[in-house]
Amino acid sequence: MKPLVKKILLGTLAVPCLALAGFVGTAQLRWDRTFEAPYPEIRASSDSAVVARGSYLVNGPAHCSYCHTTTDQWPALDSGAVLPLTGGNRFVLPVGTFITPNLTPDVETGIGRRSDAELARMLRHSVRADGRAALPFMPFQNMSDDDLTAIISYLRSREPVRHEVPNHDLTMMGKGLMAFLIEPQGPEGTPPQTSPAQAPTIARGKYLANSVANCAGCHTKRSPMDGSAIGEPFAGGMVMEDEKNPDKIFVTPNLTPDAATGRIAHWTEEQFVARFRVPRKAFEGSHMPWMAFRRMSDDDVRAIYRYLNSLSPVANATGPSYQDKPAD
Ligand code: HEC
Ligand code: HEC
Repeated sequence: MKPLVKKILLGTLAVPCLALAGFVGTAQLRWDRTFEAPYPEIRASSDSAVVARGSYLVNGPAHCSYCHTTTDQWPALDSGAVLPLTGGNRFVLPVGTFITPNLTPDVETGIGRRSDAELARMLRHSVRADGRAALPFMPFQNMSDDDLTAIISYLRSREPVRHEVPNHDLTMMGKGLMAFLIEPQGPEGTPPQTSPAQAPTIARGKYLANSVANCAGCHTKRSPMDGSAIGEPFAGGMVMEDEKNPDKIFVTPNLTPDAATGRIAHWTEEQFVARFRVPRKAFEGSHMPWMAFRRMSDDDVRAIYRYLNSLSPVANATGPSYQDKPAD
């Protein structure tokens, strides 16, 4: 090879290599950085009405049961079972494998080792008990004090189940993400003390769709890197893999009332309620937690319908919910 060509080649390669080495080195040093966040004044209660409200939220709209069980337990959830939340569900992403923790009160392997304040801080400020930022899987930051109390009270009321769950396994890219991009997400302002009453009101629907049921999370187009919104809220277009078929993808529909492109623009309220009463109908592998949402009260489903119909229409054609994966 001619010396000049060699020099250019080495020179051009050396720059990205050095930058990469620096990045990797710094990521190694700071991927497990910790954060400060206040501990909310939330205390679990053993009042049966509070525990019942927690059960409704955990197994229904807040769908904790969907992630904190394994996929082989989903058929039981589909048929209405209430299962212990023993965790172990794996999310295999380019940035690493994340495994959901055991939420039963077991002292060694579950949340028995966490205080109420640690659990509440995790849900409201996305800071784990060890101070590291949580990955943005759980957008419950703006949930009311009452609902947070009810959820933690319900978790504490369950039987402990011993189930050791392995730690997350981050790839180098994942460590880079944790070192530089992922910061804990806190609430917007001060979260409400109480949530809007269970009635078919737009205010209740807004609260559920944004702060509890995560409709906004999945029905808004997001960056696959850090989960930040890159599309209009509720206008759909977020792409999800089909774990069972690598040639297919799910694309979330547009839920705004746009006459041409909104999926529910021509659905009556009764049709919308009826859709929430069946399991993951057509698409078995759908990421939408139908098995939990099925348990929402009629009033809550109606509230969400009324809220979605109060949004400004956004024209965004997302195509069928289940599509062929485009060639890269
Ligand atoms: C979309 C999936 C998903 C949903 C829904 C979900 N979680 Fe989680 N949860 C996770 C993942 C993943 C982690 C691990 C996060 C991390 O370590 O960064 C986690 C961690 C936790 C922890 C920390 C446990 C510990 O050992 O400190 C608590 C508490 C928790 N979740 C409670 C809940 C509750 C309560 C709900 C419902 C209101 C819920 N989760 C819904 C995925 C989910
Ligand atoms: C974890 C992601 C996720 C969450 C959370 C989620 N969805 Fe979906 N949703 C999807 C996906 C994926 C589809 C397309 C596949 C399907 O129909 O199951 C979908 C489809 C739909 C459909 C169309 C169903 C049909 O028959 O055409 C409606 C309506 C809907 N979602 C409403 C909601 C509402 C309301 C909420 C909040 C209560 C919500 N979604 C929360 C992922 C999600």
